[in-house]
Amino acid sequence: MSPSLTVRRITAEQGAVFRELRTASLREAPYAFGATLEDALSADAASFDATAADHAVSRTAGTFILYTEGHPAGLIEARLDQAGEHRAFVGELWVAPAVRHLRGGELLVDTASNWLAAAGATEIYAWVADSNRNAMRFYEALGFGPAGEHRRVQRAPEQVESLLVWHVPADSGAPAE
Ligand SMILES: CC(C)(COP(=O)(O)OP(=O)(O)OC[C@H]1O[C@@H](n2cnc3c(N)ncnc32)[C@H](O)[C@@H]1OP(=O)(O)O)[C@@H](O)C(=O)NCCC(=O)NCCS
Repeated sequence: MSPSLTVRRITAEQGAVFRELRTASLREAPYAFGATLEDALSADAASFDATAADHAVSRTAGTFILYTEGHPAGLIEARLDQAGEHRAFVGELWVAPAVRHLRGGELLVDTASNWLAAAGATEIYAWVADSNRNAMRFYEALGFGPAGEHRRVQRAPEQVESLLVWHVPADSGAPAE
């Protein structure tokens, strides 16, 4: 039987859970992120507590956690772009290998996108390394397409990442401003 998957916004007390998921993601899929495992391991525990506290209540940034049978098994970050009123980003997406291909990633992206759309975003962007074919296919399956921007990967400047965009449908039910 498939495990049941749920997604909830991080709470202010979940700094340790956040740190655990971030380090697990960087250890398991170092090719997928701009930061390195060393960055996360050398960061002060208090910085994870501070991010959890902020992302639990902020109107412009949130972290959402995937649970399988109550156990944390993935995460995503959602952020409104300060520069562009209706632009927003999702990132740091990771689903634990044991629960991949069960629509956990889709649930995370949908939850983050709905939250951003409710906050006024009409374009939701994600940077994906060109070499990360799984993530490319995953985002394309969810309706994201090329936004036409490319840049060097911070962690590995010889690699390139591309910007993908998903346009929030006008009838998404997100409240008008
Ligand atoms: C990318 C990732 C988040 C997908 O999570 P997931 O829970 O396995 O994805 P889902 O089950 O929600 O997949 C939804 C759809 O995306 C597509 N998809 C997902 N993984 C795929 C893969 N490895 N290859 C091709 N398509 C894939 C499929 O169309 C899938 O639908 P289907 O199962 O009906 O075929 C996960 O593989 C992961 O954490 N990878 C490592 C970290 C990473 O690359 N993060 C992204 C950084 S940009």
